[in-house]
Amino acid sequence: MDAPKEIFLKDYKLPDYYFDTVDLSFFLGEEKTTVSAKISVVPRVDGVASPLVLDGVDLKLISVKINGNELKEGEFQVGPRHLILTSPPSGNFILETVTEILPHKNTSLEGLYKSSGNFCTQCEAEGFRKITFYQDRPDIMAKDTCRIEANKLLYPVLLSNGNLIEQGDLEGGNHFAIWEDPFKKPCYLFALVAGQLESRDDTFTTCSGRKVALKIWTPPQDLPKAEHAMYSLKAAMKWDEDVFGREYDLDIFNIVSVPDFLGAMENKSLNIFNSALVLASPETTTDADYAAILGVTGHEYFHNWTGNRVTCRDWFQLSLKEGLTVFRDQEFSSDMGSRTVKRIGDVSRLRTRQFPQDAGPMAHSVRPHSYIKMDNFYTATVYEKGAEVVRMYKTLLGSQGFRKGTDLYFERHDGQAVTCEDFFAAMRDANHADFANFLLWYSQAGTPIVKVTSSYNAEARTFSLKFSQTVPPTPGQPVKEPMFIPVAAGLLDSSGKDMPLSSIYHDGKLESVTCCGQPVYTTVLRVTKGEEEFTFSDVPEKPIPSLLRGYSAPIRLQSDLTDDDLFFLLAHDSDGFNRWEAGQILARKLMLSQVVNFQKSSPLVLDPQFVHGIKCILLDSSLDKEFIAKAITLPGESEIMDLMEVADPDAVHAVRKFIRKQLASQLKHEFLNLVKENRSSEKYVFDHTNMARRALKNTALGYLASLEDEEMTELVLHEYKTATNMTDQFSALAAIAQKAGKARDDALADFYNQWQHDYLVVNKWFALQSSSDIPGNVENLYKLLGHQAFDLKNPDKVFSLIGGFRASHVNFHAKDGSGYKFLGEVVLQLDKLNPQVASGMVTAFSRWKRYDETRQNLAKAQLEMIVSVNGLSENVYEIASKSLA
Ligand code: PHE
Ligand code: ZN
Repeated sequence: MDAPKEIFLKDYKLPDYYFDTVDLSFFLGEEKTTVSAKISVVPRVDGVASPLVLDGVDLKLISVKINGNELKEGEFQVGPRHLILTSPPSGNFILETVTEILPHKNTSLEGLYKSSGNFCTQCEAEGFRKITFYQDRPDIMAKDTCRIEANKLLYPVLLSNGNLIEQGDLEGGNHFAIWEDPFKKPCYLFALVAGQLESRDDTFTTCSGRKVALKIWTPPQDLPKAEHAMYSLKAAMKWDEDVFGREYDLDIFNIVSVPDFLGAMENKSLNIFNSALVLASPETTTDADYAAILGVTGHEYFHNWTGNRVTCRDWFQLSLKEGLTVFRDQEFSSDMGSRTVKRIGDVSRLRTRQFPQDAGPMAHSVRPHSYIKMDNFYTATVYEKGAEVVRMYKTLLGSQGFRKGTDLYFERHDGQAVTCEDFFAAMRDANHADFANFLLWYSQAGTPIVKVTSSYNAEARTFSLKFSQTVPPTPGQPVKEPMFIPVAAGLLDSSGKDMPLSSIYHDGKLESVTCCGQPVYTTVLRVTKGEEEFTFSDVPEKPIPSLLRGYSAPIRLQSDLTDDDLFFLLAHDSDGFNRWEAGQILARKLMLSQVVNFQKSSPLVLDPQFVHGIKCILLDSSLDKEFIAKAITLPGESEIMDLMEVADPDAVHAVRKFIRKQLASQLKHEFLNLVKENRSSEKYVFDHTNMARRALKNTALGYLASLEDEEMTELVLHEYKTATNMTDQFSALAAIAQKAGKARDDALADFYNQWQHDYLVVNKWFALQSSSDIPGNVENLYKLLGHQAFDLKNPDKVFSLIGGFRASHVNFHAKDGSGYKFLGEVVLQLDKLNPQVASGMVTAFSRWKRYDETRQNLAKAQLEMIVSVNGLSENVYEIASKSLA
């Protein structure tokens, strides 16, 4: 392949031409689709007639006209990626092109393609260029209309952005629809859907009294499953008015459910979602899925303001819309459920998905400096770390200050394509805030490591915290500067209560931290230097500090808290997040100490104080049940491996399993009671109380099933058989599936038998098996690849089976290399079908240098094999070659 081109942020240039209006016309045929585009072009600088370069991939150009005149040879050039108009007229002109495309041959799920017989589009980031010749970049914002013509029987529903302004029947069985979007937008927000769909209809009346028609479109048989998505949409619309003052701006809002789709997409007024993120029923959908639907529906809806009305100047600014919108969906879900539990989940996700990325060969800043394929930068760093950056503004400014900042951002930039600095400036200017070097969060990659030591001076009644920070080197950034880290802190007295905080001595000054004369119990320390000290005054006794409350910054905190301090915080901290965190720190320490024992072949032991701490949490009836479920769940294997010099999947797996089993046997009585007390009632209810009951019961059940105990196997089977909803049924199945044997095989076969007609449930069944830690599971994976329900072309099935496999560290990193070989083979097959999905899978190899030499050599061999392949996609090339570098 040609050496792929790297694109740099520093090379950004304003476009030479803007597009004012675009009229698109689609003729959707069975063999091919014809696309006509009429664009009014406006030069940015009057009188300058430089060549106009249009992007276009996999397009057949039929004709090109300027101001009605067909261009002749020499007046344009067409290549595999561009159409260049060599000498356009000076001044405004009308460009008309006609192109042909082949949607039914398009397996990339990008551009216009067919999914289960229907037409649909995906244009973000750079898919519009697969539809027609265009300046495919987000700072080109135009108003558009879209005419769609197709066979009426095959495609009775024709949808695009904005309002339907005309429709009608044509001769020969065809019909047409014309849509007009009154808001100008970048082309990545364009969408078209045509097919056999039905809608669940509802309405929402906005705060100013505008009545909006809401429609969720699905294939007819799925329609009964759209209720929860509709509930989620209405809740999101209301929440955005209440919390951000954002009102919806059109008379119609559509969501379409599509089985072959990567995630969900915020196209203006025509969101398109993977069906797994729309369809729900208690019998087929777990609590986690219900919650994901709520969050994603909110996320895509919130993009209407953060992404669509105000969009990104270029793709390096992706976090401007994604970080902010993830933050907004996190807050929405918090307000709809439990704030603490949501925060715990989000931080766990950051630790398992983003931290490894930030410490590996693909590490990049929240705003990347360069990319080969933009698709590869829809990452946990841009999304989740980006959301943490937005959260830090709120932590520093408070809710009201933050709202002033977003108000100013929308006021200044509505209708514009802007940058991360513009968001920063709005936050700063609305609050006259001093943000020091906060902007470094956008440009410096790597997870900061912050060390803190404390000392109490009884005579002076002062308590000091000494911070030191380092940011590890990342590719292209060997040396880092200290960052601005907001550390939310409180002090606990010996009875476990928060002490009132009065003033802090810092940087040669004594500053009061009271608020309107009232004492505060949590204050935000602004750590901005490599080394820095804060001294609390008027502290009557030696306190136990609760640091980084609510996880106020995306860092690794290393404190000098003793185990006793941590047990104390686990029992008393008023900050729910930090209560959980104290337990996790203890569990991490315990697991790491036992990993050392395992590696020395010494016996594993479980600290009785830890069992006691867990038992207290289990029995504390004042606690939220979902919080208990989280607090008794051990950190994941990857989190522990991350903390080791050389990652050892076998040791970590053995240790985690050992501790789980020990806890199960020592707390068997308590776990049994929890199962009995928290069984579900007949009717499934999606609310926090009921979800929390199910979470606690099923977590307890998982522990019990880890015991080698007939009676427990019977209990789990009983729970499986009597389950009245998918949350309980699937949890019981997962509990049974922990151990190889007949009970497992029978249950898996029974489950498939019951649900084979429902592909979304079958995907769960695939994922459960592929992520299993049972020894030698790779063989089973080869079998499942050939299963009648499996299809390499469908991304969900790939994520379930291949993505799921990567979650089993013992099997993926099997020392005989069988797991690596499996993934290497599959990546090459996938790359031919869908490069985006393939590159998502190849990232599993990227941290190969973290393992022992044998594993390193085996993984490296697979990467080398992959990059040596002829005709490899840029997507996979970028990840594989950067991983080898
Ligand atoms: N913009 C989508 C989101 O909200 C993400 C996406 C990108 C989906 C590219 C499909 C393709 O997060
Ligand atoms: Zn998004």
